Amino acid sequence: MVGFVLAMAFVVAQAQQMQSNISRGSSLTPTTNSSWLSRSGVYAFGFYKQGNGYAVGIFLAGIPQTTIVWTAKRDDPPLSTNVTLDFTSDGFSLKPTQGQSFVIEYTSGSSASMLDSGNFVIYNARQDIVWQSFEHPTDTLLPGQTLFAEDELFSAKSESDHSTGIFRLKMQADGNLVQYPVNTPYKAEYAYYSSGTDGRGKNVTLHFAADGHLYLLNDTHSNIRNITNVSMVWESSNDKCDPKGVCGLNSYCVLLDLEAECRCLPGFVSANQRNKTSGCSRNLVADGCEHKNETLKYTMEELESTTWEDISYVDLTLSDKEACKRACLEDCNCEAALFDDTSCKKQRLPLRYGRRQVSTSNVALIKVAKSTTTPDTNRIVEKGSKRKGRTDILIVSLSLAAFGSILFAISVVVLCKHNVWAYKRVNTPIRDSELNEDIALQPYTYEELEKITNNFTEEVGRGASGTVYKGVILASQKPVAVK
Ligand SMILES: *[C@@H]1O[C@H](CO)[C@@H](O)[C@H](O)[C@H]1NC(C)=O
Ligand SMILES: *[C@@H]1O[C@H](CO)[C@@H](O)[C@H](O)[C@H]1NC(C)=O
Ligand SMILES: *[C@@H]1O[C@H](CO)[C@@H](O)[C@H](O)[C@H]1NC(C)=O
Ligand SMILES: *[C@@H]1O[C@H](CO)[C@@H](O)[C@H](O)[C@H]1NC(C)=O
Ligand SMILES: *[C@@H]1O[C@H](CO)[C@@H](O)[C@H](O)[C@H]1NC(C)=O
Ligand SMILES: *[C@@H]1O[C@H](CO)[C@@H](O)[C@H](O)[C@H]1NC(C)=O
Ligand SMILES: *[C@@H]1O[C@H](CO)[C@@H](O)[C@H](O)[C@H]1NC(C)=O
Ligand SMILES: *[C@@H]1O[C@H](CO)[C@@H](O)[C@H](O)[C@H]1NC(C)=O
Ligand SMILES: *[C@@H]1O[C@H](CO)[C@@H](O)[C@H](O)[C@H]1NC(C)=O
Repeated sequence: MVGFVLAMAFVVAQAQQMQSNISRGSSLTPTTNSSWLSRSGVYAFGFYKQGNGYAVGIFLAGIPQTTIVWTAKRDDPPLSTNVTLDFTSDGFSLKPTQGQSFVIEYTSGSSASMLDSGNFVIYNARQDIVWQSFEHPTDTLLPGQTLFAEDELFSAKSESDHSTGIFRLKMQADGNLVQYPVNTPYKAEYAYYSSGTDGRGKNVTLHFAADGHLYLLNDTHSNIRNITNVSMVWESSNDKCDPKGVCGLNSYCVLLDLEAECRCLPGFVSANQRNKTSGCSRNLVADGCEHKNETLKYTMEELESTTWEDISYVDLTLSDKEACKRACLEDCNCEAALFDDTSCKKQRLPLRYGRRQVSTSNVALIKVAKSTTTPDTNRIVEKGSKRKGRTDILIVSLSLAAFGSILFAISVVVLCKHNVWAYKRVNTPIRDSELNEDIALQPYTYEELEKITNNFTEEVGRGASGTVYKGVILASQKPVAVK
């Protein structure tokens, strides 16, 4: 009951910002009038804190840990406190200009609306939509949102930095839904997840329903693939070494306890012990062809059962591994070679997308200076990565919020860390404004929650808003609030 009263007071204080119809000429600033809320108050468009400044985006409002679902110009530097965001007819512009003046561009904008679906929509005077955030996804899909052919999601850099990270999910025009590292060609050899629906039409689209159903429709709107059922837990791969680029240059991924560990090539040390993707570099700089007769100073180290991207400049057919080693030693351009059966592929550095694969007979041969004492495993360990890995595969969780209430919300996110594509947990306390007809939240009893979470057995994390339990909604479709 106390929770109810506090919630009401909170809603009244916020009420003046709730504007479902925003007219041209309105403006926002980071500190006063910083955002426009949707009618229910669940979503907001406006400024949120980012780094040492602010960014413009859409987020779940009214929660301590702001959950960002969309960001404008995500790679621009943080904005300072004194900027103003103006709603003009041809865009949302920043004053004073910082880099680019427009963060959103369109023509003939007249009014805008932050919808309760999480879609921020801009209309012209005839009420036609001239721009909508659902058509410009960043790293998140919200229920009801579609990823159209040729569109792509890019993971965020980290949970607190929403600029473009290192993984992407592409809805290809060949009908295939594929995950790649960034800056790679659209080629199968770089992919680490695919729906296997290539050739099923030029305009296949990915749909995400509020019940967690993720599916592909073809040009004529037939369901051609159910990626998930209504069941709640899904990830594109459960092998944490699958995502290409999870380990940086000159390092390779090894699965330990189902977690990804990055190790350096022999003769290499990690550039940054705490950052897997920073990779490894030689512990002695002695490469190149400038000192022609230094070949005698090198030896070839073997690294068995690993696979790498093949960027060979020469592919020799040689009878054995020793011949391949000699061929590389005698070639001052050669820094490594990949040997398999009779194939000896000479490589320059850096090597990337390395991973241990027990099933492969491929041996990587690395040229190292003889004087080098080779640390055999130079590991790069991310602090706390183990625990995070487990929560990341979670789709729906229960958050015991400040008001003693619980809200489920689900969204599809390309995760930044393990880069598996999975649902992201969204915790938010529930406010009474959300209990209106608009979203028709469904009340659950404690007993039902016990059932959903299997007696709260699986605790998967603790955040500022309480303990998080793993749960699966059995039949409900919408976000669920519990009071
Ligand atoms: C928003 O307000 C403008 C001007 O007051 C009006 O012309 C327009 O119809 C309104 N839009 C909606 C969706 O109510
Ligand atoms: C905030 O916006 C409201 C309505 O748009 C306006 O009346 C008020 O003056 C604004 N406050 C500030 C500090 O800009
Ligand atoms: C706005 O703030 C930035 C940095 O905080 C400062 O460099 C700039 O001069 C300020 N601009 C105005 C118009 O106050
Ligand atoms: C693809 O489908 C979407 C939605 O059905 C439609 O808006 C779009 O025009 C189509 N694109 C092409 C190239 O057919
Ligand atoms: C869409 O899929 C349905 C069912 O598989 C199929 O009958 C139809 O021909 C497909 N449409 C196109 C344009 O490929
Ligand atoms: C996907 O699931 C729906 C029911 O949720 C079913 O009607 C449909 O046939 C399934 N599609 C495929 C391709 O299996
Ligand atoms: C959906 O459910 C059916 C039957 O319960 C199962 O056979 C199928 O593998 C499921 N599909 C996915 C994508 O989980
Ligand atoms: C880790 O290193 C990579 C490559 O040097 C860099 O792009 C990235 O921002 C770093 N990540 C963090 C969290 O510092
Ligand atoms: C080879 O290296 C030695 C010193 O290590 C140097 O004295 C000699 O001139 C070099 N020979 C050639 C052909 O570069």
